[in-house]
Amino acid sequence: MRLTNKVAFVTGGGQGIGRLTALTFAREGAKVVVADINMSAAQAVADEIIQADGQARAVFLDAARSESVEVAMRTASEWGGGIDILVNNAGITRDARMQKMTEDQWDAVLGVNLKGVWLCSKYAAPYMIARGGGAILNAASVVALYGNFGQSNYVAAKAGVIGMTKTWARELGPSGIRVNAVAPGFIQTDMIATVPDKVIESMKERTPLRRIGYAEDIANAYLFLASDEASFITGIVLSVDGGLIF
Ligand code: NAI
Repeated sequence: MRLTNKVAFVTGGGQGIGRLTALTFAREGAKVVVADINMSAAQAVADEIIQADGQARAVFLDAARSESVEVAMRTASEWGGGIDILVNNAGITRDARMQKMTEDQWDAVLGVNLKGVWLCSKYAAPYMIARGGGAILNAASVVALYGNFGQSNYVAAKAGVIGMTKTWARELGPSGIRVNAVAPGFIQTDMIATVPDKVIESMKERTPLRRIGYAEDIANAYLFLASDEASFITGIVLSVDGGLIF
């Protein structure tokens, strides 16, 4: 097992990539805090882990609100005995073309996908420093690297996440904290449920491996980057996209 005795905090752990990451980390021996704004979804994932003889605890989290983040991190640390791994996975979309995008759409996406990543990292870092190190993993996206029609807000947030990842790798490296990002391609989850079939098909055509991704593909990348096998890796953006971009 690759994460024995580690305490992992997974934001947006209630479904999709976050759920698979929580299940994968628990299977590898981590104590997993499943944090989500949807508490019943988080509880269901925690129950699933416990039923499989793993260790998990669901906590309510609104990643965009500092009071909520602070309480969630404290609760997690008290339960787990510290925090070793943070997966900043929670994310939302509110798509519209640039001129039609509303301020609410902009603020909502930047609030969760950018500010939320900073807030969770800010409040988790002291617990990691107290333990002599840790790993922060941020959800970027291939769209941060090449743009995407109708996603000014989302692309701005994900590009910002890449910048913060490199900045924190420099700031936190001396404290033993590694900071890396994963840039998923198109992954089969609720987030892309509304993407038309013909767009998905054209994505497959453009992808050398000729498929879209599964949540497992991303969870496995997080697992590697969280584990000691990646102990000399920090500040990178790992694309997991079947070769869509390189
Ligand atoms: P999803 O929509 O299936 O799940 C997102 C989870 O985040 C949900 O459980 C939701 O309740 C939670 N959440 C939303 N707002 C929150 C908040 N304020 N505080 C705490 N939790 C909150 O999304 P999916 O597809 O699993 O994506 C996960 C991450 O991966 C996101 O950051 C997304 O941007 C990124 N990603 C996904 C891709 C895809 O194709 N599915 C591609 C590239 C990146």
